[in-house]
Amino acid sequence: MILTVVGARPQFIKAAALSLALKNLGINEQIIHTGQHYDEKMSKVFFEELGIPGVAKNLAVGSGQHGAQTGEMLAGIEEHINQNQSDIKALLVYGDTNSTLAGAITAAKLHIPIIHVEAGLRSFNRTMPEEINRVITDHISTYLFCSSREGVNHLKNEGITKNVFNVGDIMYDAVKSFLPYAKAPQEIKSNSARYNLITIHRPSNTDDIQRLQTILTGIGKIEESCYWPVHPRNKATLNQLVLPKNLVLCEPFSYFEMLYAIKNSVKVITDSGGLQKEAYWLKKPCITIRPQTEWIETLDNNWNQLCDGSTDSIVNCYQNDPIENTWKSIYGEGNASTLIAGTIKTSLFS
Ligand code: UD1
Repeated sequence: MILTVVGARPQFIKAAALSLALKNLGINEQIIHTGQHYDEKMSKVFFEELGIPGVAKNLAVGSGQHGAQTGEMLAGIEEHINQNQSDIKALLVYGDTNSTLAGAITAAKLHIPIIHVEAGLRSFNRTMPEEINRVITDHISTYLFCSSREGVNHLKNEGITKNVFNVGDIMYDAVKSFLPYAKAPQEIKSNSARYNLITIHRPSNTDDIQRLQTILTGIGKIEESCYWPVHPRNKATLNQLVLPKNLVLCEPFSYFEMLYAIKNSVKVITDSGGLQKEAYWLKKPCITIRPQTEWIETLDNNWNQLCDGSTDSIVNCYQNDPIENTWKSIYGEGNASTLIAGTIKTSLFS
């Protein structure tokens, strides 16, 4: 059996693709949800919409400081394994959240092989909690599945070469299979005008109110409406901000709503990791409000632009368009889940 640990929104999307591929190969999987994301619109809606198999255990850890949150997850995952372990062949984690780190560390201590999907990513910015999570997870993983050559090279530079597989990006699988189900969010349905899609949630952009205000003021200089599905972490501070008139605040979108919102937008402005790729696959220009990106391939030909968040830089980036006819397939062919499941089967079940 494969024990999968998920906890945050992007991991539910990745799990949807891989769980199906594992099932298709007859591989038994059990899912632990750490409860890192717990609001209905951050969690339940994804399980329902994407048909993710039932959760064996929800640790309901919820929010907290990094230490407390991760520590509680470690204890919960360990307890679950000790109570239920019979034939766990490996523990599988996705990406770079605190849930990823907790799953990986628990497995390492219990001598259970670790499968890391989305391995080898680096921003080289160690002030980001995600960078710490990914570096540690990669260094204790047994099977490492990368989204691109770049990931493989990063691992090689850190001395990790065994059981490293370049399979493409699993989020592409999800985009391809679920795009036919895209549906308009309520807020967008009633408005047929051109719009941009905004998501801002990273601590580095939102913990300092002045910084967030500067970003929003820059967004206010854009002519079209900008729809912002607000992450729950940012709700509390909204009333301290002067919101520009073109900004439309929305509840978090489900995955099908997100696909619609990207597909029908003019441009995407974000600090998310996954959204940079989703914008690329759906051929939408992206502006990333961060000093660096792990997804450097998206920067070619202006499909994605890094922006420092100042008013000028938002306005300047917004005026730039990608170079015509330069879109090409990056991060694989959208079959990462089949490739990963196949490798797991050969390596662990034969
Ligand atoms: C986490 C990941 C980040 C990922 C993001 C995806 C880490 C370190 N960060 O960030 O890499 O891009 O998920 O969304 O793991 N909250 C709620 N309801 C929820 C979830 C969160 O209200 O269902 C609020 C709480 O105030 C909480 C805050 O959001 O304190 C932050 O949540 P947390 O899970 O710690 O990190 P994210 O910012 O969501």
